[in-house]
Amino acid sequence: MATTTRPAEREQWTGQLGFLLSAIGSAIGLGNIWRFPGVAYENGGGAFLIPYLVALLTAGVPILLLDYSLGHRFRGSAPTVFRRLGKKFEPLGWFQVAIAFVIATYYTVIIVWAIRYMGFSVSLAWGDDPATFFIGEFLQDAGATVTTDIVAGIFWPLLIVWIVTLVILALGVAKGIERANKIFLPLLVILFLILVVRALFLDGAMDGLNAFFTPDWSALSDPGVWVAAYSQIFFSLSIAFGIMLTYSSYLRRRSNLVPVSYVAAFANSSFELLAGIGVFATLGYMAFQQGVAVGELEGLTGVVLSFITFPQIVSLMPGGPIFGVLFFASLTLAGFTSLISIMQVISAAFQEKFGLSRVQVSVLIGGLCAIVSLALFSTTSSLAMLDTVDKYTNEIGVVSSAILMCLILGFGLRKLPELQAHLNSVSTARVGTWWRVLVGIIVPLALLYMLATTVIDLITTPYGGYPESFVNIVGWGVVGAMILAAVVYSLIRWRRPVDDYTPDPIAGFEGSSARLDTGSTNPEAHR
Ligand code: ALA
Repeated sequence: MATTTRPAEREQWTGQLGFLLSAIGSAIGLGNIWRFPGVAYENGGGAFLIPYLVALLTAGVPILLLDYSLGHRFRGSAPTVFRRLGKKFEPLGWFQVAIAFVIATYYTVIIVWAIRYMGFSVSLAWGDDPATFFIGEFLQDAGATVTTDIVAGIFWPLLIVWIVTLVILALGVAKGIERANKIFLPLLVILFLILVVRALFLDGAMDGLNAFFTPDWSALSDPGVWVAAYSQIFFSLSIAFGIMLTYSSYLRRRSNLVPVSYVAAFANSSFELLAGIGVFATLGYMAFQQGVAVGELEGLTGVVLSFITFPQIVSLMPGGPIFGVLFFASLTLAGFTSLISIMQVISAAFQEKFGLSRVQVSVLIGGLCAIVSLALFSTTSSLAMLDTVDKYTNEIGVVSSAILMCLILGFGLRKLPELQAHLNSVSTARVGTWWRVLVGIIVPLALLYMLATTVIDLITTPYGGYPESFVNIVGWGVVGAMILAAVVYSLIRWRRPVDDYTPDPIAGFEGSSARLDTGSTNPEAHR
């Protein structure tokens, strides 16, 4: 008999609460504070909440449930799960690992910026001109080019962030990840609530909220707005690139997956909305101080919003340094709990395929990720690179991954009834046929349309106004590299048994105890 990978051999969360906190910690990240307010404002303000909610309900929660059911039923990292579904599907697992790898390389850098800005807030180090300080002095930005000039002020803190992350990863699921989340997540919620309450009492706060919530209905007819909403939901909920799939694989057999997914999604979106409220109340204060309308302010999105506009406001405000420290500390904590979840996707995959220990993976693969991150994103070209890589990885990589998951499970393998039965058999709440209809039909069709629109857009107009050669090398290059990695890693031989796995039978569900199609005791099957 060949060995069977039993669930008991896997690491486990100490309980459902540890999992829930870690899942929420993963979901609440830079995406909530750094991405959401700007994306929402740029894409119709209040009207964006409609595509956002539609995306949350039609794709976010259903794909979150899909991730949970896959990880929990097939007990593994993304490559293990997809391999167990069929040998030819393993590349999708590695594609998700590659997405996590790429995101981790730049995610860490934004955390470093936040850490440095916590320090800068104390002395208002950016002086009168936060834009020149950020772009010129801090990043020493050389524009959209590929350089190897390292910025020491980013390199060293980045190295430290990487070391801390890899130590937590090496400590494992319960002692490392869960413990970190149990400390950092409550701390984040407390700091952020203080920040938002303070923001709401600033002069002009209500004007800021009006600007944020006043809908621009015409935005709803723009497909780009819908793409932005769906990709925001995927990034923000940490779905379709292996995180929730990996996290749920460490749950005990009887785990209440369905209600937990609702709680995690609700907590994440509530935090996101809270971030929007806090950020725009603060922008209202800035507009009030400058005697202009909020709509006339510039720099309300992404990196500029957090690292140029916010410092300007901190300088204007009484007690600004404290506000600045709170804001950047929140960004750091939110980012950190998500970063460890992104890295766990990679760690679990390499442990399982290559038979490496946690520590070995942290040193070897985590070390490689750190080197790539240091080499690419502590240079003077990091800003444009980061912006481009973020765009292509999320709007092409993550969206394609979600489409493939839906198509493989819905049309290729017709596994959705089994996964639905699995979810229902372990949970106190049930998912109905609606879930299969969404995952099997609506989500893939909607995402295919959106992906096509994005690709056409990116081909016809070079992203972000950057030179075409730059977006081709960096943007399309990263997509090509992820596909290549997915194929190459799938071709390598498994060092641990993967195929001989029988999922638990589900009472009342016919055929659930049948061996999966790849099952074989033949060692060749591990190739
Ligand atoms: N879910 C994480 C975030 O929102 C990745 O940043």
